[in-house]
Amino acid sequence: MRHPVPDYLHSLLESLESVREGEVAQYIPTLATAEPDRFGVALATVTGRLHSAGDDQTEFTIQSISKPFSYAAALSDRGVDAVDEMVGLNPSGEAFNELSLEEDSHRPDNAMINAGALATHQLLVGPYAGRQERIDRFVDLMSLLAGRSLRIDRESYEAEMDTADRNLALGHMLRSHGIIHDRAEDVVAGYIAQCSVLVTVRDLAVMGACLASGGVHPISGERVLPSLVTRQVMSVMSSSGMYDAAGEWLANVGIPAKSGVAGGLLGALPGQVGIGVFSPRLDEHGNSVRGVEVCRRMSEDLRLHIM
Ligand code: DON
Repeated sequence: MRHPVPDYLHSLLESLESVREGEVAQYIPTLATAEPDRFGVALATVTGRLHSAGDDQTEFTIQSISKPFSYAAALSDRGVDAVDEMVGLNPSGEAFNELSLEEDSHRPDNAMINAGALATHQLLVGPYAGRQERIDRFVDLMSLLAGRSLRIDRESYEAEMDTADRNLALGHMLRSHGIIHDRAEDVVAGYIAQCSVLVTVRDLAVMGACLASGGVHPISGERVLPSLVTRQVMSVMSSSGMYDAAGEWLANVGIPAKSGVAGGLLGALPGQVGIGVFSPRLDEHGNSVRGVEVCRRMSEDLRLHIM
């Protein structure tokens, strides 16, 4: 018997196999030596069907796709008001690692840029949590969402820590304004640990489906996040998830999404599906070239555009 969705995913990958534009991230060896032509895609429905094609077992570091989930964890742990006090809700219009804050409040513009992700990471668990507790909280949530036990890639973690000057600068800037209160080094280490969690496209699709379903796990049926939290996370992903390409993305693809510098891309279409794509070559915005194209085509072929 033929299965229309897996067949569709296979043909989608085949049709984009020849795309060779873009470069893999160069700033740490584990990313610079990634196999550039790896390519995988997965689709999970909110009703618990999971389909995938291509390199669907390949693990890669989640990187910035961790940001919506640490935001979700902080919102769950501390409540929306406490988080909103420390992290804004507007697109920054600047690079993801820009050293800038809102003028009056000194909050980072949103949780999808590095400044916002550091502020968010500090908020995990509670006011007196330590570095390891926050990391454990994040890895536990990600494992719960993925439905399997996830781990941190130590090699990527160490390499990022060796070149963390910009994130440290952001950490010190945030601390000087009282947005974080722990040592900048500890918050940066926690943030880098969260970026170093290894995932597959199947994990990303299921995680996306957890957001899309309003917080109910599509496979276990368990509530894993409050629905108000998933609404806020997907709202901020819509306006800021694809960095300075967010406006174009919303118009052309119309699926709340988040990209990572390892080449991962996660989409979450409310009430419908989660999408995971992996292909390491990046465009000038830092988004996976093939990942963007896969989502654009899926949006068109399956009529997924949110509008
Ligand atoms: O903070 C960093 O530089 C990385 N660990 C994560 C950045 C990232 O994924 C940016 N996204 N495209």
